[in-house]
Amino acid sequence: MPTHPEHAPSYLESRTPSAGTEPPRAAFASDAPALDLDGDWRFRLAPTAAGGPGAFEREDHDDSAWDTLPVPAHWQLHGYGAPAYTNIAYPFPIDPPHVPDDNPTGEYRRAFDLPESWPEGPAVLRFEGVDSCYAVWLNGHELGHATGSRLPSEFEVGALLRPGRNVLAVRVHQWSAASYLEDQDMWWLSGIFRGVRLLACPDRGVRDLEVRASYDHTSGTGVLRVDTETPGLVTVPELGLVDAATGTDHEVGPVEPWSAEVPRLYDGELVTPGERVPLRVGFRTVEVSGGLLRVNGRPLLLRGVNRHEWDPDRGRAVTWETMREDVLLMKRHNVNAVRTSHYPPHPDFLDLCDELGLWVVDECDLETHGFEDVGWRNNPSDDPLWHDAFLDRMARTVERDKNHPSVILWSLGNESGGGRNLRAMAEWTRRRDPGRPVHYEGAADPAYTDLYSRMYATHEEVAAIGRRSGLPEGDPGLVDRPFVMVEYAHAMGTGPGGLEEYQRLVEAHPHVQGGFVWEWIDHGIRRREDDGTEWFAYGGDFGEVVHDANFVADGLLMPDRTPGPGLAALAKTFEPLRLVPDPENGTVAVTNTWQVLDTAGLELRWDLREEGEPVAGGVLAAKPVGPGETAVLPLPDLPEPSAAGRETWLTVSAHLAGDLPWAEAGHEVAWGQARVDRPRADGSGSDRITPSQPVTHHRPGATERELGYHPQRTPSAQYPPLATEGDTVTVGPAEFDARTGRALSVAGLPLAALELDVWRAPTDNDQARHGESVEVPWRRAGLDRMTHRVLSVEREDAALRVRTRVAAANSDIGLLADYTWTGDAEALVLDLAVEAVGDWPCPLPRVGVRLELPPELGEVDWFGRGPGEAYRDVAQAARVGRFTSSVDGLQTPYLRPQENGNRLGTRRLDLRSPEGRGLRVEGAPEFDFTVRRWSTAALDRARHPHELRPEDRIHLHLDAAHQGIGSASCGPGVLPQHRLTPGTHRLRLVLRPLA
Ligand code: GAL
Repeated sequence: MPTHPEHAPSYLESRTPSAGTEPPRAAFASDAPALDLDGDWRFRLAPTAAGGPGAFEREDHDDSAWDTLPVPAHWQLHGYGAPAYTNIAYPFPIDPPHVPDDNPTGEYRRAFDLPESWPEGPAVLRFEGVDSCYAVWLNGHELGHATGSRLPSEFEVGALLRPGRNVLAVRVHQWSAASYLEDQDMWWLSGIFRGVRLLACPDRGVRDLEVRASYDHTSGTGVLRVDTETPGLVTVPELGLVDAATGTDHEVGPVEPWSAEVPRLYDGELVTPGERVPLRVGFRTVEVSGGLLRVNGRPLLLRGVNRHEWDPDRGRAVTWETMREDVLLMKRHNVNAVRTSHYPPHPDFLDLCDELGLWVVDECDLETHGFEDVGWRNNPSDDPLWHDAFLDRMARTVERDKNHPSVILWSLGNESGGGRNLRAMAEWTRRRDPGRPVHYEGAADPAYTDLYSRMYATHEEVAAIGRRSGLPEGDPGLVDRPFVMVEYAHAMGTGPGGLEEYQRLVEAHPHVQGGFVWEWIDHGIRRREDDGTEWFAYGGDFGEVVHDANFVADGLLMPDRTPGPGLAALAKTFEPLRLVPDPENGTVAVTNTWQVLDTAGLELRWDLREEGEPVAGGVLAAKPVGPGETAVLPLPDLPEPSAAGRETWLTVSAHLAGDLPWAEAGHEVAWGQARVDRPRADGSGSDRITPSQPVTHHRPGATERELGYHPQRTPSAQYPPLATEGDTVTVGPAEFDARTGRALSVAGLPLAALELDVWRAPTDNDQARHGESVEVPWRRAGLDRMTHRVLSVEREDAALRVRTRVAAANSDIGLLADYTWTGDAEALVLDLAVEAVGDWPCPLPRVGVRLELPPELGEVDWFGRGPGEAYRDVAQAARVGRFTSSVDGLQTPYLRPQENGNRLGTRRLDLRSPEGRGLRVEGAPEFDFTVRRWSTAALDRARHPHELRPEDRIHLHLDAAHQGIGSASCGPGVLPQHRLTPGTHRLRLVLRPLA
């Protein structure tokens, strides 16, 4: 029981956002004196808002026994208290504006010496971000208190500063009334987590500035206006603008506009009598017209991601290096837009977006989602008592970030229901900044938003919105407004599936202007076992009472910023160029989907490979293709195939011709592939891989020909007869148990447990905690505990036929699996036919065989699609080629272990020991494979990857097909064409020992 905090400050439960703070203003650098106060501060943590013993704010308080804590940082990541994760739920009773008595409160002290040169006069203490509520004292004088965790606050301190030693004291509470406004699906983490500075405010200095730089796309000219409190002079040498007055429009003539593609900034300077401020001016005009969101007259196509600030060790106290890495990774993966979900980012992030080029939706620090769980009763968004708090947050967002050309939309916040306070925010924002439209997803009413925005709309809905038809009457989608998918393609665990299909809709419907994949990075917290093993924690790993488990791990990047397979798929989907080689006609079609760039900065390369081995290649001479244009370019004469039957592919790819600030020359931007040799008579091999043609897999009800089942294609037309000796039957190089028909070995290499397998460790999308789960019917049908019963073992002349029935306890549905084994001196051939019997209520997870191999066969080499993990609806990035890896290298360590690491469209797979012994598997024509050092059951059981222990064997899965992945962890499930319907399935494999 905590003692009742009768000494808790009254501001804690006040809806008034702050007291004693200065009016909000722009973030900018200047030549005015500044003192950085980051570094080690004295720190102690108290259990309640009353704080620790003694008057900690007094100058002479003895803090010598206190610990130290770095600023910026979260105290929970430095051993005080613990992180807690919830998505929607408030981790305290919903009783606004009250907060729990248990209210961890951090007391910080920092003594600093004022530099001798520090000028007299006004100065402010600026806090860039403190979570969640804090009061500040300088030299024992209370300055005020503030909320708004991810918004700056400034306190005037000029009169209190003294030469020499000054003492700053800050009390930070984890919970406050403001916590009700900060329910943003992330870790609850507290403390001074962004920088603190002392800034001199020179007499007749700038104080605040507003830069408006518009671009007229009809004339190609710009207008620049800079407003300040004290009149000053603006110089932009490149524009010939010298000592131009503030407070007036300057027609600067022809300018190069700013865009995410060409982030042209003009360096300049603003000088007032007291201060000089460097300017970086980007000219652009944002508008909604004709139902389209346009910049500089051209409709935007947003290829975006939602970004939370995250670092696995530092939480939201991100460094400049981390922010830069995010922007570079986005640019290198063809992302052109970012939504700062769900709060304004560190201000440096926006400087990086200006400089490197990303369209930004800048979101206010606001979410009241937990009220949804109580039917939105007492939602602050519609309560006049919270009006000032809402407006304060919006004003602080807009004022801080108003000068960034990258910011093109203001977003009121996230998932805060509807209500008059949101409406007031929208109205205020439009008045304050007519130069940027307003976005809000939570209500489609135009009073709140200039766009129609939705999260997790299905493909069908997006198509209907795009067509402006087929929607229920009165659906706001019918209103003539631009449509954006503010969140889609939930990137949790394996996946997201269906991204490619969304992109096709974006391209087909002009009003569907793209969107923002949820989300950029997994928010895992790095932990270390005693033996040094690292792993990443998610919700529940800190003993939270209420939590949402690994829903915090739904990013395209792993927490340490290792790109996940979803990011590769996204990069392919977001390619700005579409390259479609057509070797038959000797051409390649190049479609440029950029808004302003032509292809002059790119080098087009061609590369011809036979079964993955390079044959020829070079650079294509090509005239630049303009934005929005398609050109059909000639290909060089391709050499004749060296031998019949060698599968040959042409890859055409586009690379940066020179270094750019975000990537080096040679960086690949786009690629397309086409098969060059005449596809085999069996029709195997999809003959072209481009973004618009995801390669589809075996369809239920497909004919044998479509399934690739061609009994005539075998290693040897004549099979030698079987030999039986005792309990063993020999088929080609392999031995079988005569009684059970089980494979035992091939050429002495043990093949254990070879049998039909239809189970996979459910992915987050299979599990679908917020959507339609397939895991539930899978487990109900017993797919995780199938048993095998041999119906017959028949020996024919040259074939061993084993018929089995595979089913689960207490279930009357099942699968008939017939194995036909044949072979010759070198190879063993399996023809597997699977037929579902009974009334199946769900798709199958996979259809294939599993087997166990000796542990030393850890080296992997294959010809097929790769190099990365791919599933039938997350297949974009997998190109046909020859790849090498290792069993360990083929795993994707999703934070919650689940099905992963599949390689698609494999024609040939070799697993070898370091000595070269091993097994070759050939598809007839193709198969999927996964290979692991643990079983599916172990993968299914584990909660974290480091719990998976390598076994003394390798588990190999060879599949005819998988159920697609979809994105039902939050959003639509697997599209019909990617479902694995029970029915009949066939798989034909050739197994050869490797000496
Ligand atoms: C949305 C929300 C995000 C995130 C996502 C699921 O509803 O806006 O913050 O929770 O769902 O991961």
